[in-house]
Amino acid sequence: MNVVDISSEDPFVKLSKDFIENPYPYYDRLREKGNLVWSSAGEKRWMTTSYDTSVTVLNDPRFSVEYPAEQLEPLSEYINNPAYSDLLTGLTKFMVAQDPPQHTRIRKLANKAFTRAEVTEMSDRITNIVDELIDRVAASGEMDLIADFAFPLPITIICEVLGIPACDHDKMRDWTNSISLALEPILDVNNVPASAKAATELFDYLKVLIAERKKTPTNDLLSAFVQAEEEGDCLNLDELLSNMLLLIIAGHDTTVNLIGNGMLALTQNPDSMSKLRSQPELIPLAIEEFLRYQSPAQLTERFALSDMHFEGHELKKGDRVVVIIGGANRDPSRFEFPNVLNIERQPNKHIAFGQGIHFCLGAPLARFEAKIAFERLLVRLPEITLNCEKPEFRESAFFRGLQQLPLRFAVN
Ligand code: HEM
Repeated sequence: MNVVDISSEDPFVKLSKDFIENPYPYYDRLREKGNLVWSSAGEKRWMTTSYDTSVTVLNDPRFSVEYPAEQLEPLSEYINNPAYSDLLTGLTKFMVAQDPPQHTRIRKLANKAFTRAEVTEMSDRITNIVDELIDRVAASGEMDLIADFAFPLPITIICEVLGIPACDHDKMRDWTNSISLALEPILDVNNVPASAKAATELFDYLKVLIAERKKTPTNDLLSAFVQAEEEGDCLNLDELLSNMLLLIIAGHDTTVNLIGNGMLALTQNPDSMSKLRSQPELIPLAIEEFLRYQSPAQLTERFALSDMHFEGHELKKGDRVVVIIGGANRDPSRFEFPNVLNIERQPNKHIAFGQGIHFCLGAPLARFEAKIAFERLLVRLPEITLNCEKPEFRESAFFRGLQQLPLRFAVN
């Protein structure tokens, strides 16, 4: 099969305003060109926006999540520089960047804290935080849903699960926002020093916390990780730091966007908002649709472990394949009217939480937080409407989320 080279129109090389506002027409164009297209612009890579191909890549053990040496070569200036070593550790030792058997071992340790049963036990705490956040704005008739609600909720929860004191939650946001820039599909080298500084500061902070938990364990996840490490059950310091980083990033950045994107979709589809107010039992289905319609994590990537024949193409060992989750979730061959929000869509087998062995560990927590958030927001705030012309999305190809979401509502 001929390789379709889309380098000249690669949307990731320079993120345009148009793309940030609405990436889906770009994804449609890539999909029309083939299930797997090639770009040699910037970091060379295959890309897919096809649902079936995305699912196949994510389930195929011939692909790895670990960076192959060939891909790291252009970054050798950073890799060999001690100032960047924490950032490198941070982004390579966490479970989502590890293949089995390391992946299996680490995931098993973290798994216990995030099962549906564990998460359901957090119900009262989540409801309390949600109500406290709504109390702060209810009398004013307006709010920025992102700053006033969608950000503080998940960061409070994930930090409580991990055992990070409440007074440090803002610091976590600043550090992880900076580090996340290094996750973009095309790395902007200008951001690397700030990302590296943030990684070092975060790790210095966590090392103090780890030392405290070693002395006096509590019932948080950090203590569980530290004890497991001490029992010889595997987590070394680098793995511990890196997985804490992953949980903090994954635990809040994506859930903020699920809540923000979901509420934006409802303000743009007032009939759906009314329906959810009168039939709150539909909220879990609506959340699945928010995840599909504006997937908070828009992409992930894999690397070919060997030369292989795949989807009619010859892939070389080390080739990078970017799976565009946001595009796969709008594939018309899988989803009828994919660009329409349908809060009762069934079946809705979106891949917003990934697929296969790296399927999102925090999916039960994210779904549960979002369910309580929408239940309480819709009960407590009547007549929610948008309080700006057009809310802007963050400049990221990786995360899809709003910078602000100004809302107006009636005061009871
Ligand atoms: C709406 C919210 C969320 C979305 C859309 C999301 C999305 C994803 C996706 C797409 C993956 C797979 C990445 C890949 O295969 O390369 C993933 C993995 C992961 N997520 Fe989430 N996530 C969310 C919330 C959370 C939360 C709340 C946590 C933590 C409590 C979390 C922790 C993780 C972890 C640890 C992994 C790696 C799992 C592994 O490698 O086995 N996520 N997430």
